[in-house]
Amino acid sequence: MSTYAKGLEGVVAAETQMSWIDGVNGVLEYVGINIDALAQNSTFEETVYLLWNKKLPTRAELDAFTKELRQHYSISAGIVESIRKIPKTAEPMHVLRTLISELAFYDADPNANDVASARKKAINILGQAPTLVAAYDRIRRGLDPIAPNTEFGFSQNFLYMLNGEKPTDTMARAFDICMITHADHGLNNSTFAARVVISTLSDVYSALTAAVGSLRGPLHGGANEGVMKMLNEIPSIDDVEKYVMDKLATKSKIMGFGHRVYKAKDPRANELQKLAQQLAKDTGNEALFEKSKKIEEIMAREVGAKGIYPNVDFYSATTYHCIGLKLDLFTPMFAMSRLGGWSGHIIEQLSDNRLFRPKAEFVGEHNVPYVAINDRK
Ligand code: SDX
Repeated sequence: MSTYAKGLEGVVAAETQMSWIDGVNGVLEYVGINIDALAQNSTFEETVYLLWNKKLPTRAELDAFTKELRQHYSISAGIVESIRKIPKTAEPMHVLRTLISELAFYDADPNANDVASARKKAINILGQAPTLVAAYDRIRRGLDPIAPNTEFGFSQNFLYMLNGEKPTDTMARAFDICMITHADHGLNNSTFAARVVISTLSDVYSALTAAVGSLRGPLHGGANEGVMKMLNEIPSIDDVEKYVMDKLATKSKIMGFGHRVYKAKDPRANELQKLAQQLAKDTGNEALFEKSKKIEEIMAREVGAKGIYPNVDFYSATTYHCIGLKLDLFTPMFAMSRLGGWSGHIIEQLSDNRLFRPKAEFVGEHNVPYVAINDRK
């Protein structure tokens, strides 16, 4: 007798060697390594290597992986032409979802889904994703896209292509820490979407397109943009108490809080809070950070007992804002990073696949007669 778990809450639907989450104590490990250690010592390239290969790379392995990734930074003239045709009012997450799907047209064998082919497609898409986002943002601003610089790392290159100048080491490092902390997180909704699609032996492009579509939802990756909108809505720190209490009184969700798994503060929020505080100070955005801290204090007082704490999106919003990113680019940043985790899960699913096909409990009527259309009311 199967039991119905709404939202698959508490259901184990896959095995993975990538992320481990302790929701009670607020711990996250990638391949057994604590996220704090990775945020403080690793790079996004090293983190993706770790997730895909289940071990930290040697210096030679990291150099080879980095070189391979940089070979995939460039996008084709055909894709640039497509981007120029996209309405300038399009939402960047719709653009990214569409362009990842379009990359399949430029792949000689888009449907190959043996593990080796999947990995090649994954690095090809991961390398191009920042270039796609930066190119669209510049074109919608009436500027020419800037070609990637293969001398630059993933994060440094993205900020360079977006802004037209080499970022400071501080900004590049801050962005890289965001990429590290967003890379993977167990069987979250978008990762599940990728696994579900690839489990039919469909292709990597379809699986990643589905994942991007899932991530943009405000209950998932779209929350970081919701947090920024909330911070912009609150005029000053003196207005925070009333704003939060009014939201809670109407059972509205405070974006950036709560989690299906964490019932303690998301460890990524701790890392991003440190980053947000430093960047807010460096960029004259202390008021933004102080508002965030005030919201966190009030939420701890009002709903902390229910296990509702800041999640990864709460302080990433302030961090991205201080790095100078436009609000509607926040969720694409999450997607750029999570392409690493999604691809790792696609590879894991292909390595030990079983088609996902849960059941639905039929709750309608049986033996209903067919009534001719002229006799229907
Ligand atoms: C991400 O799964 C992952 O790992 C996701 C992620 C990743 O790395 O992939 O960690 C990234 O998506 C983080 C979450 C970002 N989303 C948000 O910040 C949106 C706001 N949060 C909520 O919508 C909610 O907390 C969820 C969706 C994140 C989790 O929701 P659940 O597990 O379905 O919990 P629920 O909605 O059933 O809420 C349980 C209770 C309810 O109160 P009661 O009806 O029991 O009285 O907690 C309350 C909710 O009202 N609650 C909140 C709240 N979140 C839950 N109340 C106020 N503000 C909130 N944010």
